[in-house]
Amino acid sequence: MAELPYHGQVKDRFLITEVSTVGPGTTEVVVEAPRVAAHAHPGQFVIVRLTVASERIPLTICDFDAEVGTITLVVQSVGRTTIEMRDLGAGDALADVLGPLGVPTEIDRFGTCVVVAGGVGVAIALPVARAFTAAGNEVIGILGARTAEHVILREAFEHACHEVVITTEDGSVGIEGFVTDALVRILEDRSIDRVFAVGPIPMMRAVAEMTRDRAVTTIASLNPIMVDGTGMCGGCRVSVGGDTLFACVDGPEFDAHLVDFDSLERRNTAYRNFESCQLQIVEASHG
Ligand code: FAD
Ligand code: FES
Ligand code: MG
Repeated sequence: MAELPYHGQVKDRFLITEVSTVGPGTTEVVVEAPRVAAHAHPGQFVIVRLTVASERIPLTICDFDAEVGTITLVVQSVGRTTIEMRDLGAGDALADVLGPLGVPTEIDRFGTCVVVAGGVGVAIALPVARAFTAAGNEVIGILGARTAEHVILREAFEHACHEVVITTEDGSVGIEGFVTDALVRILEDRSIDRVFAVGPIPMMRAVAEMTRDRAVTTIASLNPIMVDGTGMCGGCRVSVGGDTLFACVDGPEFDAHLVDFDSLERRNTAYRNFESCQLQIVEASHG
């Protein structure tokens, strides 16, 4: 078979070599995908199919090892496909791993950067924080979760950043409150050159509102529903500065001050009834 222009891996199956639990309902999965690993950059993602009959879901390349030929995915089980993925173990295989997709994160020596991660967003923020640090930036991480138990990848994030502030909604670890409670303190105390935010839509919207008046460049990694991941289906279209763009080929990272978060939120709920039916099916099959 001819090599695909986006360096997609072309082989029958993608072997899972390691699986570990990193938090409640969240697993870290190492997959053999040598061509993806050889071309991956921070900020990029893959489109995965568990079997040839499965739906396609986007997952960020949290880490990659070009020498060994593996990529690391961190998957939070929220619905049918991600629950089915949680059931896979080392020795199982994925039918498709297409990528690397998306525009890599802009990495430069910006100065002092704040990387804000909510929930499983830390899996997406981690390679970005590592790359910011490697480029000579001072990197402050903010890691927000519901409770101490939901704080995932803390050690790796602390290693990637110069300092990390943890926030939890119940105050069980770190500051009690939301990531924005930590961000506002940092913005008041220090001169910040760039903010990178990834997490639930209300969180990214709140971060953008907080940095807008202070004119701090803020990049958000968006999570619209994606299907093909190559700009063909239009499923992932987002409105940015009045332009309609495709998150899979033009993003997934955009200037957060220009993103229409309301339309993103509306579009992401379009299949909620179908998704909850699928969730009931998979929950029933798990007894
Ligand atoms: P469903 O019940 O089908 O959906 C649950 C929710 O997930 C939906 O309401 C919707 O908001 C979202 N979703 C559903 N289908 C899709 C789809 N095809 N594309 C995007 N979102 C969808 N999650 C992780 O756990 N780890 C990651 O590293 C990660 N990286 C992502 C990178 C990008 C660029 C994008 C766009 C999303 C990423 N996600 C990641 C989200 C992940 O794709 C969804 O959680 C997953 O598709 C849900 O599938 P499901 O069948 O388990 O749940
Ligand atoms: Fe189809 Fe982006 S996922 S155009
Ligand atoms: Mg689904």
